[in-house]
Amino acid sequence: MELPAALRQAVEQALEGTPLPDLRRAADLLSRRYRAETRDGRLHVGDDLAARAYLATRLPATYAAVRRSLAEFAEMRPGFSPASLLDVGAGPGTAFWAVSDEWPDVESATLIEASGAMRKAGEGLAQAARAPISWRSLDVEGGLEDIDAAELVTLCYVLDELAPPVRDRLVDRLWSLTADTLVIVEPGTPAGWQRIIAARDRLLAAGAAIAAPCPHHAPCPLKAPDWCHFAQRVARSRLHRRAKGGEVPFEDEKFIYLAACRHPLESPHARVLASPRAASGAVRLKLCRGDGTSGDELFTRRQGAAFKTARRLGWGDAFHENPD
Ligand SMILES: C[S@@+](CC[C@H](N)C(=O)[O-])C[C@H]1O[C@@H](n2cnc3c(N)ncnc32)[C@H](O)[C@@H]1O
Repeated sequence: MELPAALRQAVEQALEGTPLPDLRRAADLLSRRYRAETRDGRLHVGDDLAARAYLATRLPATYAAVRRSLAEFAEMRPGFSPASLLDVGAGPGTAFWAVSDEWPDVESATLIEASGAMRKAGEGLAQAARAPISWRSLDVEGGLEDIDAAELVTLCYVLDELAPPVRDRLVDRLWSLTADTLVIVEPGTPAGWQRIIAARDRLLAAGAAIAAPCPHHAPCPLKAPDWCHFAQRVARSRLHRRAKGGEVPFEDEKFIYLAACRHPLESPHARVLASPRAASGAVRLKLCRGDGTSGDELFTRRQGAAFKTARRLGWGDAFHENPD
């Protein structure tokens, strides 16, 4: 996956003139804070340099994860095209760009972000899109009192920065602000999966329908040390590679997501939970099934149509029994 051209150019422009050693140092510090899930009362991105490091090294991956999550949800909900978006913990507006790519007819977007440096970076990028964005400088801990509901509400890579009681209150509040669909995306780590499971439990208790990735409303069948997550390959620009000190022209962003809807939807037969293992005339899929179970299934040529469908699937895809 590549960033949309307008976003790529806007990021390049924002990074122009930043000395590489400074960018590397800031990227390294950011990466250490994210990996350790540091919660010391300070925002990870507190100044312009940290915001630039985010644009260079994290935005491409979070964009890819959010974009893929939206695409998986959109497949479950053909015809959905939100006119209004509320994105919370918006950072530089990553989710807005991904939402606009999936549904270009967004008429109004409210982006809530506590970090002034992130907002400034996001405003700079959004100039390129002449986007219908209203930025709000708010801390989610304040309860988002005067915020209007939106058809689509997104919360991407934010829960891991909040203390557990704040997360619970925020999920409840965001559901109350969701006119149609709430999408939450988290890093694809065991801890990220646990946060998604906790949000899923709350949303189910509040009457939400899970649109993706789960093909059922039963408890998650995976048990630690296993965990549910997906991966999206994303191209690394030259500057991205140099800021990270790596040469590989891509990275695989691991992520986990949840799309919760106000309307019941038809679930797929199953979802693919790992890279398929193919052999001659056979493919083995790790599946989460509509009956709430999970496990490996072998599909062989003898199974005809089911095999034809199975061998085309990749990690994260929905398995429809009767595709087309
Ligand atoms: C990892 S970034 C994700 C940004 C963006 N959603 C993305 O996917 O690229 C998390 C964002 O949440 C913001 N954030 C963290 N705690 C917050 C709070 N209490 N109130 C508002 N924003 C917060 C941070 O400043 C940061 O911009």
